[in-house]
Amino acid sequence: MSTTAHPTSADLFEVTRTETPVPDAEREAALAAPKFGTVFTDHMARISWSQETGWSNRRVEKYGPLLLDPAAAVLHYGQEIFEGLKAYKHPDGSVWTFRPQANAARFAKSAHRLALPQLSESDFLGAIQALVSTDVAWVPGGEETSLYLRPFMYASETFLGVRPSLEAEFLVIASPVGPYFAGGVRPVSIWVAEDYHRAGAGGTGDAKCGGNYAASLLPQQEAYDKGFEQVCFLDASTNTYLEELGGMNVCVVYADGIVATPPISGSILEGVTRSSVLRLLTDAGNAVEERPITLAELKTGLADGSISEVFACGTAAVMTPIGRLAGVGFDLTVGDGTAGPVTTRIRAELTDIQYGRAADRHGWLHRLA
Ligand SMILES: Cc1ncc(COP(=O)(O)O)c(C=O)c1O
Repeated sequence: MSTTAHPTSADLFEVTRTETPVPDAEREAALAAPKFGTVFTDHMARISWSQETGWSNRRVEKYGPLLLDPAAAVLHYGQEIFEGLKAYKHPDGSVWTFRPQANAARFAKSAHRLALPQLSESDFLGAIQALVSTDVAWVPGGEETSLYLRPFMYASETFLGVRPSLEAEFLVIASPVGPYFAGGVRPVSIWVAEDYHRAGAGGTGDAKCGGNYAASLLPQQEAYDKGFEQVCFLDASTNTYLEELGGMNVCVVYADGIVATPPISGSILEGVTRSSVLRLLTDAGNAVEERPITLAELKTGLADGSISEVFACGTAAVMTPIGRLAGVGFDLTVGDGTAGPVTTRIRAELTDIQYGRAADRHGWLHRLA
């Protein structure tokens, strides 16, 4: 196992334990059957910022509602960013997270784009560590279960002027989560949206800000109404190139073993899972291409069999096989509609590293407790 060389500010957090934690039996019941994002741990980590004083008041406190003035900037102009990562329990009971430095760097990039203050990597990791060590009893131990960590920052200044907020709050909350696919990995169906776009050139597509997700909800709902589970967006300039799903990157596997994925163009989110999967594929001898992929190329490749697998990847579901891809005027099955061998193998390799069942040869794991 690797240990971290990254210093954190965890020791600077003042911990005030709740006097009314969730009773043990209730917590154990929640851990036995966790549902994504519905139950939260007893505490939350928090740091406050103002332009005058900078970051201060690092603390872990009782999880609970926030006090917000109705004129708080975030409620009007959406100045908010977030991250998503997981804490995994290993067979020896230790708790680890996966490449959190990459999430810290992406959070800093998102903060820059949304004109929010920069939070150091040390504070980002420190807040996570302080929270997970306080709520370590909330890390589930079942297969493919984890403690989902949600760091976020919002503009808290009471002011209706349209300019960057002079005050902000950073918090980390945590929720025990179960396997994304109950009963094993299952291929999903995708609707390719040609009438809505997620992001455009110069927009916020490469930042993890709430507004991007708000914009994806209507297309997602419409796809759902048509009988599809997820939406794949195309580039806003030409409506030609694949970008990503609402919350996952997308990769295409060719029958000859080459794997292609859209490049980090400025309008897609640079996924931590995406880069890890590309690395594992390269290690396995697959040629990896980060290049524009046209919808036309995808349709032709699926029809003639030169494309054998398509998968989506992201922290929540790790790797999700795509079994059906449809849009206006086409409806195609990917391979035989089941999870393909490349998707299945790399998914197993990645989860084996995350759960401590395989050697962490790239030093991706960071110990939390
Ligand atoms: C829009 C979008 N793309 C891609 C991803 C995948 O990123 P990651 O692998 O870091 O979870 C996510 C999830 O965070 C996302 O919301």
